[in-house]
Amino acid sequence: MIQMAVLGFGTVGGGVVELIDRNQEVIRKTVPQGIHVKYILDLRDFPDSPYNDRVTHDYQDILDDEEITVICETMGGKEPAYTFTKKALERGISVCTSNKELVAAHGPELLQVAKANNCSYLFEASVGGGIPLIRPINACLTQEDITEVFGILNGTTNYILTRMEKNGLSFEEALKEAQQKGYAERNPEADVEGHDACRKIAILSSLISGKTVRYEDIPCEGISRITTADFGYARAMKMAIKLLGVSRKSQDGSLSVRTAPFLVREDHPLHSVQGVFNGVFVHGNMVDDLMFYGRGAGKFPTASAVVSDVMECAKNIGRNISFNWSDEIMTLSDKAEDSYRYFVRVDDSEAAVAAYTFKAANKVSFEGAPDGETAFVTANMTEKEFAEIAKSFKTIKQCIRLLQD
Ligand code: HSE
Repeated sequence: MIQMAVLGFGTVGGGVVELIDRNQEVIRKTVPQGIHVKYILDLRDFPDSPYNDRVTHDYQDILDDEEITVICETMGGKEPAYTFTKKALERGISVCTSNKELVAAHGPELLQVAKANNCSYLFEASVGGGIPLIRPINACLTQEDITEVFGILNGTTNYILTRMEKNGLSFEEALKEAQQKGYAERNPEADVEGHDACRKIAILSSLISGKTVRYEDIPCEGISRITTADFGYARAMKMAIKLLGVSRKSQDGSLSVRTAPFLVREDHPLHSVQGVFNGVFVHGNMVDDLMFYGRGAGKFPTASAVVSDVMECAKNIGRNISFNWSDEIMTLSDKAEDSYRYFVRVDDSEAAVAAYTFKAANKVSFEGAPDGETAFVTANMTEKEFAEIAKSFKTIKQCIRLLQD
């Protein structure tokens, strides 16, 4: 038996333990010796859980047990996850994680420690929940120059936007549902303000560049400023509002990376990615466009991705599964030079001059649109040009970028 431990018995950790039990026979077809969860580390006790006898409160119990070859870190957050992960890797114990915060902050360092100790640090579940994405990039697409990766990377916000748009729920109601379903982060601000999607696009950008893209360097906007009226205008334009992470290579090899809400046209496949589902586009110079789609959050989809990593480790005991991700910092292109068309809402008092200055092609309206304002889409312009023009107007109440082809 492969003996393992799970750190953190929350939604994902609980899913990992249950999945390994329920799918043990399936797992044995690939890992014939089977996989057994020997320890569960958590601060709490779980008297009503059938797994309570495996709970320990002392990490040292796990480190000192020489039978343990794999650990699942499903605690989330930087500490103590970072210290626990490093200690395990230094002992040659592989670590599989869903912790995007830790991977985005310390990925290359932990990958180095794993390499030096002939074990692995795997993080399939850190981006896209249950969607196989990291392994395809790291194993099936290494022959490609990947020039673009973008998509819906946060299940909670996509769930909120979908419920608001399709079912007329308020932001608060939709967020509460997402929390009840186990999609949201402990502090949902990380979802709503775009930080979670930003960490995920940082991880993907690092993998396609081979260097470290710091999430602190990525411009990041969330969905908290999106209102019911915006959905009305979006519908009138046959578009949907989606929180996207976008990463594109420029001619000079630099990367342009951004996390923000975007208006997505009806004929774009991301338009129909709804609810907790994520959709991620990858463009390789030879394979052309690929799209990955599946549940981006939730107990079993995320646990499925973690356990796929555990099985990879079980098949590679004593060996390192390597990644092309160095600690050299990747320089991002000047975000002021990114260009878009922008959807803008402005008070009627400034509308005529604003529409003229922004070179708006046509105005947008819908039945029930708020009185006293005008909405339009600007001509294509750089962020710098947009900001310059916007400075001269006092009543701009909304501005959302359009996703370009
Ligand atoms: N809160 C995250 C999301 C969980 O909603 O996408 C999965 O990373």
